[in-house]
Amino acid sequence: MGEHVAQWFVRTVRQHTGRELSVIDLRTFDLPMFTDAIVPSTRTEPHPDHRVRQWLSSLNDSDGLIFVNPEYNYGLASGLKNGLDYVAHELDNKPVGIVSYGGTAAGIRSSLMLRETLKAFNVHDIGTQVAIPRVWEAFDENGRLLSGNDQAEELAVKMVEELEKLVECT
Ligand SMILES: Cc1cc2nc3c(=O)[nH]c(=O)nc-3n(C[C@H](O)[C@H](O)[C@H](O)COP(=O)(O)O)c2cc1C
Repeated sequence: MGEHVAQWFVRTVRQHTGRELSVIDLRTFDLPMFTDAIVPSTRTEPHPDHRVRQWLSSLNDSDGLIFVNPEYNYGLASGLKNGLDYVAHELDNKPVGIVSYGGTAAGIRSSLMLRETLKAFNVHDIGTQVAIPRVWEAFDENGRLLSGNDQAEELAVKMVEELEKLVECT
């Protein structure tokens, strides 16, 4: 469902602010399971795997990031944790926000875990969060959020405005 949530977010921000966000889809990098013996922040040469290099440069090239974050078994999705384990300094000083989704808990527990993990990278954490419960029934066939999620659009716009302010300061 991550793609639906991301597309909804991008479209909402475009409609309300005219800003165009880029989507980085972690799945497209097909990252290997992290088993490196070297701690990323101590690596002196670029990572030998081109998929990891591409993932890291997409993070590096971003002014700020909004993570679209599902919840699996009360926690962070393993694919995202795996991707973050490759990060060295690519997120340093970048503003980050979270759009979570899941079952009745709307991904809140996985977002708490994600915020803890992101502390390792010296990011600027935006407090405003969008949280979408019961994601499988949250959208209509055109990808619009159904009623019951009324505050989500307002919060999405607020989050991007906060992110933009922090980008200007960094
Ligand atoms: C194995 C599994 C465990 C899940 N655990 C939770 C959970 O603990 N809390 C929750 O809110 N949703 C949970 N869900 C629901 C997922 O968050 C939901 O299916 C979501 O769409 C998954 O993201 P994805 O479609 O982008 O992979 C779980 C789903 C699966 C398949």
